Amino acid sequence: MHQAFRTKSVDQIISDCDAQPHKLKRTLTAFDLTALGIGAIIGTGIFVLVGTAAVGDGTRPGAGPGLVLSFIMSGAACVLAALCYAEFASMIPVAGSAYTYSYASLGEFLAWITGWNLVLEYGVACVAVSIGWSGYLVSILERMGIHLPTELVNPPGVDGGIVNLPAVLIVLALTGLLVIGVKESARVTSVIVAVKLAVVLFFIGVGAFAVDPANWSPFMPNGFAGVGAAAAVIFFAYIGFDAVSTTAEEARNPQRDVPIALIASLGICTLLYVVVAAVLTGIVPYTQIHVKAPVAEALNSVGIRWGGALVATGAVAGITSVLIVMLIGQIRVFYAMSRDGLLWPWLSAVHPKYGTPHHATIITGVSVAGLAGFVSIGEAAGLTNIGTLFAFTLVCGAILVLRRTRPQQRRPFRTPFVPWIPILGMLACMWLMYFLPAVTWWRFLIWSVVGVILYVGYGLSHSKLAKGVSTCEILPPLNPKDAR
Ligand code: ALA
Repeated sequence: MHQAFRTKSVDQIISDCDAQPHKLKRTLTAFDLTALGIGAIIGTGIFVLVGTAAVGDGTRPGAGPGLVLSFIMSGAACVLAALCYAEFASMIPVAGSAYTYSYASLGEFLAWITGWNLVLEYGVACVAVSIGWSGYLVSILERMGIHLPTELVNPPGVDGGIVNLPAVLIVLALTGLLVIGVKESARVTSVIVAVKLAVVLFFIGVGAFAVDPANWSPFMPNGFAGVGAAAAVIFFAYIGFDAVSTTAEEARNPQRDVPIALIASLGICTLLYVVVAAVLTGIVPYTQIHVKAPVAEALNSVGIRWGGALVATGAVAGITSVLIVMLIGQIRVFYAMSRDGLLWPWLSAVHPKYGTPHHATIITGVSVAGLAGFVSIGEAAGLTNIGTLFAFTLVCGAILVLRRTRPQQRRPFRTPFVPWIPILGMLACMWLMYFLPAVTWWRFLIWSVVGVILYVGYGLSHSKLAKGVSTCEILPPLNPKDAR
């Protein structure tokens, strides 16, 4: 068989990772994992992108109050993909991103393509997330009477902008912390998740009294085209649930708890999002929804200024934690691909003093910061979504392949109704991709071509799979206290 189609054996992945010198402690429960999932999910999508999704962005129609349907549609696509992730996470409970799952089922070339798309899912997502963070920071500062020059808070082409400086600075600051191995502790994570949930529930609770049902009509001002286009944008709000599967190595009972947490975190967020969309479009006529800090400004616009300030502060804290999870996700992808020989070995070098993969961290941070200063949130989110949707499509397809090629493999969680759920998952993801604008497709095509060239030019000949070298993708612990 040609090397490009060789697969890693599931048992080999598990035993390689078991033999790792720096394994992590198995401490996380189903509850912790669900909190972690919610921590990774709720961020720029629900706090910022809802604005453009409802209003439209000049090139694409908005959904108006039909945003509720957009959230249901992209939530459904994610639930289908999550059911497939859950089977993989239970089968390969050591360390798992879509990249490992593809390597075990679809072969090296498609694993490469998956990993390359995960750079869009995590790396480019960080760009959009940091821009969203910047929007809320600016809104808080303005409330305090501090007005930053518009040139320094917008990318070129938007409101006379030169660079989005807050976005650049937050990424560089977090990168610095990750290099020296500072990690959000489990306690800080749970506090931030609680704050985020409280802020969302607060918005729903307070906002509900300000709803004017007249704002819900017409329900779909731009018809189904608007609802579909918004679903493709708002898909961003769900990205991150798969972070649960990458912590399987730290779960006490990964086979049971990871599937539970994947579905639970996604289910809770879908429910909250649908209600937020209904309240938001009920408070403000959809054409007047603010696009940079929509949730906070909606409360402002109905006179609840203190509520707006509270939401904005919670949003900044919440989005920061998403940014950390996504940065670590990207570092992990580079680290794993480098360990496998598909990217240069220096990317998986570990810092002699801090014990962190500092090269992968710095490359990630500098690239994300560089982009965050100069692109628009819509551009970054579109590219993230198309890459993630493609990776999800491959994960769903991989379930079908592995059921056929390794029917005997132990699967503590089995995706129900195979082949229908994976097939529906693939169709749902491709259908959302269809609604993304042509320019996003072109960027995605160029990204893919560069990826194939890199694989053929480097990965194919340097891959370690053929050489029988251990290729576990477990990251060294960012905080040495976590090591067992
Ligand atoms: N779902 C994450 C967010 O909305 C990526 O920020």
